[in-house]
Amino acid sequence: MSAALARRGEPEPNLVEGEFAFTAGDFRRIAELLYEQAGISLTETKATLVYSRLAKRLRGLGLQSFADYCALIASPEGADEQANMLNALTTNVTRFFREPHHFDHLRDQVLAPRLDALRAGGRMRLWSAACSTGQEPYSMALTVLSLLPEAPNLDIKILATDIDSKVVAQAREGRYAADLVEPIPGDFRNRWMERDPSNARQWRVGEAARSLVTFKELNLIGAWPVKGPFDAIFCRNVVIYFDEPTQETIWSRFAPLLGAQGRLYIGHSERVTGPATVGYASDGLTVYRRAGGLR
Ligand SMILES: C[S@@+](CC[C@H](N)C(=O)[O-])C[C@H]1O[C@@H](n2cnc3c(N)ncnc32)[C@H](O)[C@@H]1O
Repeated sequence: MSAALARRGEPEPNLVEGEFAFTAGDFRRIAELLYEQAGISLTETKATLVYSRLAKRLRGLGLQSFADYCALIASPEGADEQANMLNALTTNVTRFFREPHHFDHLRDQVLAPRLDALRAGGRMRLWSAACSTGQEPYSMALTVLSLLPEAPNLDIKILATDIDSKVVAQAREGRYAADLVEPIPGDFRNRWMERDPSNARQWRVGEAARSLVTFKELNLIGAWPVKGPFDAIFCRNVVIYFDEPTQETIWSRFAPLLGAQGRLYIGHSERVTGPATVGYASDGLTVYRRAGGLR
């Protein structure tokens, strides 16, 4: 319809009423770029969300309309703004010990059977593949420390990655407002978290937990410069933003990176689907292990 209107020289109607003109054509251009760059699939039902998240960018840049914004991000001068757009459109909701049964499973099924081996110099690698502001990988680190307080001196490493450069920087800092640390069990908080001396209403993840985690930017639909095998991969509450073929590709790429006893933890509303299913066996609620015979 928008193409027909454009052919007749009529202005396209706005998808969302507001300060800036925002047409279906503008939405489509933004959605296409987001899909191409991050795999995130948006339908027009998300138009209001896109408008509200990007209106701030338009204001900051002094632009008059989304058409101007689309022209900017399509131009060579707009390369930096593409990254800002991506950061603005990702949904970063997370919390410490979200879906707590995964951390119990990690402790009981992945860590506990390996304690002696790890104390004797064995290797353990964990990956939080969409780490947002860091609560997920730090919850993994606190789980490790609860069984192995000496973990910083052992060969245990947690890789934490996300496409959004802003959240990765925040996560690396490891500073959280008091209300955000509430889900952390009291004994973990007392032992492994520190009150920020410069701000009484803020906590910082202690050095022991921070030393276990390495943060990096990584796009799940791009190359993965990571070294497996992993004992656990947490990829939770991110593939829901992808279409099915993209999800299936990601599941297929994780399987060969898991060790023989490796586990994949996914979000509560996600399922492993497609050809990759033969590579996994269910190991509890939204937990998978490598099925024999892959590799
Ligand atoms: C809703 S948060 C989930 C955080 C955490 N895993 C959890 O379950 O609490 C989704 C995260 O996925 C990230 N993300 C979206 N697309 C991505 C991509 N293509 N590659 C890597 N991370 C991506 C977002 O930046 C965001 O931080």
